[in-house]
Amino acid sequence: MSGTDFYYELQARLGEELSAIAPMPGPHRSFFGNSGTEANEAALKLAKYSTKRHDIIAFFGAFHGRTMGSLSLTASKVRQRQGFGPLMPGTYHAPYPDTYRSGLSADATTAQCIDFIEQQLFVHLVAPDEVAAVMVEPIQGEGGYIVPPESFLQRLRELTRRHGILLIVDEVQSGMGRTGKMFAIEHSGVDPDIVTMAKGIASGLPLGVATAPASIMSWPPGTHASTFGGNPVACAAAVATIALLRESLMKNAEVVGAHLIAGARALMEKHPLIGDVRGRGLMVGLEFVRDRRTKERATTERDALVKECFRRGLLVLGAGRNAIRLSPPLVLTKEQADIALRILDEALASLPR
Ligand SMILES: Cc1ncc(COP(=O)(O)O)c(C=O)c1O
Repeated sequence: MSGTDFYYELQARLGEELSAIAPMPGPHRSFFGNSGTEANEAALKLAKYSTKRHDIIAFFGAFHGRTMGSLSLTASKVRQRQGFGPLMPGTYHAPYPDTYRSGLSADATTAQCIDFIEQQLFVHLVAPDEVAAVMVEPIQGEGGYIVPPESFLQRLRELTRRHGILLIVDEVQSGMGRTGKMFAIEHSGVDPDIVTMAKGIASGLPLGVATAPASIMSWPPGTHASTFGGNPVACAAAVATIALLRESLMKNAEVVGAHLIAGARALMEKHPLIGDVRGRGLMVGLEFVRDRRTKERATTERDALVKECFRRGLLVLGAGRNAIRLSPPLVLTKEQADIALRILDEALASLPR
């Protein structure tokens, strides 16, 4: 049967668990779908429905999924959008703060991005009182594992609140304990209006969730649904996953993540190709440059490195144009992190100079 029509006990239990960990005050409601993109579609629809506004702002470099609404906000690679337009009207993009690339202080980098919204978008393109939501990744994943300054999320919260705009945080990649806290947004002390989850939430079984305070998710039954979204098997996996995260794995992500980041930073001394190491917990990015002074992007070198690591038994994925992401399972031990660092070291040394 469909959880849309009748209750599964497990779905209600998962709703309670999510309410206990949600990064904003409750009472909460959760929508259950099968993937990250569905979680974001739900958040978009909810934002439009509850504010009665139509426009949405997202960020360059963002990845929010591949269904039409989420894809319209995705601004990572042209290939993901090419051939599918026109996409959802009323979407706007602003720069995401990248202190490594800007070369400016954290606050100046934040100011550039917030000013773009206020001085460009709100002056030339869209009235703030027509914007339903800003959707943001608290750490930009696919776009390069970019950790924004804390002031960015705080100023974004202040700006959205001032204009009655909802703040949606996409925690599909950064959530569920990966950064050492249940949600990456918690590092900034900001309360979002809607949080979306998928990927790690059910340890690989299909589940996507959008959670919001009940005052925002007040749409009547039938307004939005998915037949087997939040099926009992996926819900059982999520309940077990959350228990494990709370018991030990979130802490493990913090401890082993710090070890991995320190080890990757140590590799910078040997390998000038590594321009930047950044991350939180077990969400770690390494950016590669041909020259540390000019920060010329080492794109082909990055691609060669991904292959070289694969040949040696280490799975890493590209992120952005010239970075890789280390996003291991949260059960990783320090010893396993050391093996990964050794393979990375050897793979880097094997690249042609
Ligand atoms: C931040 C973020 N949001 C949304 C998605 C889409 O999730 P899914 O592939 O489950 O639709 C992804 C997937 O990579 C993601 O990283």
